[in-house]
Amino acid sequence: LCLSVSLSPAVGSDGVRVMMESALTARDRVGVQDFVLLENHTSEVAFIENLRKRFKENLIYTYIGSVLVSVNPYKDLEIYTKQHMERYRGVNFYEVSPHIYAVSDNAYRSMRTERRDQCMLISGESGAGKTEASKKVLQYYAVTCPASEQVQTVKDRLLQSNPVLEAFGNAKTLRNDNSSRFGKYMDIQFDFRGAPVGGHILNYLLEKSRVVHQSHGERNFHIFYQLIEGGEEDLLRRLGLERNTQQYQYLVKGNCPKVSSINDRSDWKLVRKALSVIGFSDDDVEELLNIIASVLHLGNVQFGGEDSGNAYITTDTQIKYLARLLGVDGSVLKEALTHKKITAKGEELMSPLNQEQASSARDALSKAIYGRTFTWLVNKINDSLAFKDDSFSSKNASVIGLLDIYGFEVFQNNSFEQFCINYCNEKLQQLFIELTLKSEQEEYEAEGITWEPVQYFNNKIICDLVEEKFKGIISILDEECLRPGDASDITFLEKLEDTVGGHVHFLSHKLADGKTRKVMGRDEFRLLHYAGEVNYSVNGFLDKNNDLLFRNLKEVMCMSENKILTQCFDREELTDRKRPETTATQFKNSLAKLMEILMSKEPSYVRCIKPNDAKQAGRFDEVLIRHQVKYLGLMENLRVRRAGFAYRRRYEVFLQRYKSLCPDTWPNWDGRLVDGVSTLVKHLGYKPEEYKLGRSKIFIRFPKTLFATEDALEVRKHSLEKSFHFVCLCKCYVFLVKKEIAQPFVYRSAAILIQAWWRGILARRRAQRRREAADTIRRFIKGFMYRHQPRCPENEYFLDYVRYSFLMKLHRNLPKTVLDKSWPTPPPALIETSEHLRKLCMQNMVWKYCKTISPEWKHQLEQKMVASEIFKDKKDNYPQSVPKLFVGTRLNGEDINPKVLQALGTEKMKYGVPVTKYDRKGYKARARQMLLTGSSVFIVEDTKLKQRIDYSALKGISVSSLSDGMFVLHVPCEDNKQKGDVVLQSDHVIETLTKVAICADKINSININQGSIKFTVSQGKEGIIDFTSGSELLIAKAKNGHLSVTAPRLNSR
Ligand SMILES: Nc1ncnc2c1ncn2[C@@H]1O[C@H](COP(=O)(O)OP(=O)(O)OP(=O)(O)O)[C@@H](O)[C@H]1O
Ligand SMILES: [Mg+2]
Repeated sequence: LCLSVSLSPAVGSDGVRVMMESALTARDRVGVQDFVLLENHTSEVAFIENLRKRFKENLIYTYIGSVLVSVNPYKDLEIYTKQHMERYRGVNFYEVSPHIYAVSDNAYRSMRTERRDQCMLISGESGAGKTEASKKVLQYYAVTCPASEQVQTVKDRLLQSNPVLEAFGNAKTLRNDNSSRFGKYMDIQFDFRGAPVGGHILNYLLEKSRVVHQSHGERNFHIFYQLIEGGEEDLLRRLGLERNTQQYQYLVKGNCPKVSSINDRSDWKLVRKALSVIGFSDDDVEELLNIIASVLHLGNVQFGGEDSGNAYITTDTQIKYLARLLGVDGSVLKEALTHKKITAKGEELMSPLNQEQASSARDALSKAIYGRTFTWLVNKINDSLAFKDDSFSSKNASVIGLLDIYGFEVFQNNSFEQFCINYCNEKLQQLFIELTLKSEQEEYEAEGITWEPVQYFNNKIICDLVEEKFKGIISILDEECLRPGDASDITFLEKLEDTVGGHVHFLSHKLADGKTRKVMGRDEFRLLHYAGEVNYSVNGFLDKNNDLLFRNLKEVMCMSENKILTQCFDREELTDRKRPETTATQFKNSLAKLMEILMSKEPSYVRCIKPNDAKQAGRFDEVLIRHQVKYLGLMENLRVRRAGFAYRRRYEVFLQRYKSLCPDTWPNWDGRLVDGVSTLVKHLGYKPEEYKLGRSKIFIRFPKTLFATEDALEVRKHSLEKSFHFVCLCKCYVFLVKKEIAQPFVYRSAAILIQAWWRGILARRRAQRRREAADTIRRFIKGFMYRHQPRCPENEYFLDYVRYSFLMKLHRNLPKTVLDKSWPTPPPALIETSEHLRKLCMQNMVWKYCKTISPEWKHQLEQKMVASEIFKDKKDNYPQSVPKLFVGTRLNGEDINPKVLQALGTEKMKYGVPVTKYDRKGYKARARQMLLTGSSVFIVEDTKLKQRIDYSALKGISVSSLSDGMFVLHVPCEDNKQKGDVVLQSDHVIETLTKVAICADKINSININQGSIKFTVSQGKEGIIDFTSGSELLIAKAKNGHLSVTAPRLNSR
């Protein structure tokens, strides 16, 4: 009898909840499972101590509110079994101990119930366990989500995409034996039943340089070793490879052929199997391996140098294999590897390369081939994961995105790759700050609780330093890459010093103090990232950003018969004259898109921590961990979460758990939930400053308040058990005595009676809840039916809900910049309000933007406006001029002869530019300077003011509609001093003419001509300039006596 009723009704049959709370009582040994419950939440020592306690007990997961902190155990824990998955399925986040499955399940349920797309952002440094975490998430969905036969194939393919991508995109580094050398964002698409039905992968910036070079102790991408170690004899023979990695120049640089934790041979088998699961045909695999083998052969191509310095190939066998594997002509390939095609005076010539140039051309080819093949591979996997069911478009699918992207990295020597990786981490940190703060604020608002502002370091300033237009490091790098002349890594560094030298997060050897200089190379600049300081060596920045592959090598690859390569090297690339975007800009743009994707989804966070650098189980290196806690911003995250209240729960959950602690709420509370909770906490002696009651939740400020309540519950449970037994026994005894029934029979009937009584209570409770739920649903449906009627009792609940959800949606998705024209569609009742809000929002953003404009920038914009009025849609090189800033002048005091300055006298020069003047008769070109003052245009030759044209005398200005820089200043032909119109050419024609138009107030006197311009030579005689478009700029006197200008077409119309 005692045993059958020993559970307290407060805990009910919910065994899972019992488990979580018992973890609370064991907090001295295993720490708290949510950092918000730390009493001293600002102490880093307490934070790390809590991590340490848990790590020692193999508890690798801990929450900060809803963020999961995970410490890499470096050993297999028995916590990823199917039983574990089942335990977390459909269970409330807080009721089970922290786990990656809990976060996965929570995201899945939010996606299903709120129909909102989700994303999981997994971050942490290299080796912290991001990729492993993302695999666990994927496995969780593969096992727990509903499946049909077709879905099973998708699940298999989703899972099998990992080994393939890892083989081609991961490598052993000093930090991690299986380090991802590319960024990955994977969307898993679910149908309306919650079954995974498709997927899509976006890849980011593969570290291609690894193909040709590896640092000491590191390896090339796994696939090379897998192929050589695991490939069948027959296959290797076909590919011309030997089973010895030491034979290949591209595999010996790091001096690390074998890694104890990796079995290349068995991995090869896994990859081969995975390729066929994903749907690669035997032919596809053959072509793919041909490419991998040819990269190895390319690495072994060696060059000798002739006396003249020209390179020639010394290893003909390699060329033979390459010709066969790549399906190209051997001699053409040979020539392309040792020559560069140049165009001089319209003719194409082959110029020989020296030994060093030939080696770097070969390496560039290897990198290009591997990099493009990797992108092809991702696309191919995407084809196989694509949603195939016609009856249900992927637009209707709900999505969970998984982001596993390279973590923050600092090496002894950091280059362009680390710069990009660390910039990416800055962007993610930015997103994290914005979203966590925002969601916390939203919860407070939704609950009607006042928000108290929190101080935190906002890393936007560093993101701006890297990516800002015109002024950021990437813009400066691009400018150096694109400008003609002697640009080099060092001039790039100098430009950086000139432009961002004063920035508080930037330093270079030249700008540093004596102490810092000692730890910085002359070729280094330092960025003070949110995660710490990193010195970057500029060596190779320009080359890597340009990522150039000689044209003739591209031509050879376009001729390849390999089916994959024909898709990777497109012939159109050869004819496209437009310069491809630089690597950094491509990366910047793809990150911006990624941020947009992530912003549109509801995020969950997994913050991974690496416990030691030795990849060892059980070792907790406190210094290393403190550093990560700091730069992952975990303390700040905790501060935000704890800014107001440590603990929050919905009223019904709180009351259900603690109601036995107050006579008024025990055993049941009949009134409103909020009143019940209020009565309960008053009885427990909570002081007003210790808690707040929101709309649906109670917020408790200090953990100690909760722990005291929890301890009181423990005591109460014991006494309840005892008194409950006693009451039952007494009742039974009285009953038995009254009825005088025989003992064994009496026991049985008494038990049945108690059971019946108890079942009755449970059933009544359930019926009550069902009634309430039905009422709510009914109100909602009725409201929906009456939604078009004026407000009435039937629809007011529904209309309020629609209003509230529209306003919340608006609040979450307000446009951030004046250019962002997106705006959520309002429900019919709110169209007017929405329009009004939209106007206010736009006005506010415009006002904010205008307030921050500096006077110089305003001046710049005003000039750009004038340029736009004159040239937009009229002159071909106008679009290219838009991003280039107008400068104050292109000639300074020292560029102009002192005699000229003297001759100008009191006239102040406003703008000067070097120009070419064409004689009116023979069209000879002569270098001149053009100066603008307050009243006139001056044409200067060395020391003399050759010509002065007063603005009042300037009749008009003519230019062509093409991309050339020619223009004609028209002057009155009656004026003898002027000897006719002036024909000039400027390399900055848009800027120059805008300045003239503004100084001379002639905005409306600039004529843009198609075909030709007529001008006066002298007294009535006429000259003609003809304009035609062609492949390059040519200015010459034509046979018909006209000046003929051919200009390349920059923009298609
Ligand atoms: N939950 C885990 N259980 C057991 N071992 C783990 C776990 N997470 C990570 N590891 C171990 O740590 C290694 C590194 O993890 P992982 O490859 O996920 O790091 P990463 O954060 O993706 O690093 P990178 O940025 O270099 O790609 C794994 O190969 C595995 O041995
Ligand atoms: Mg990884």
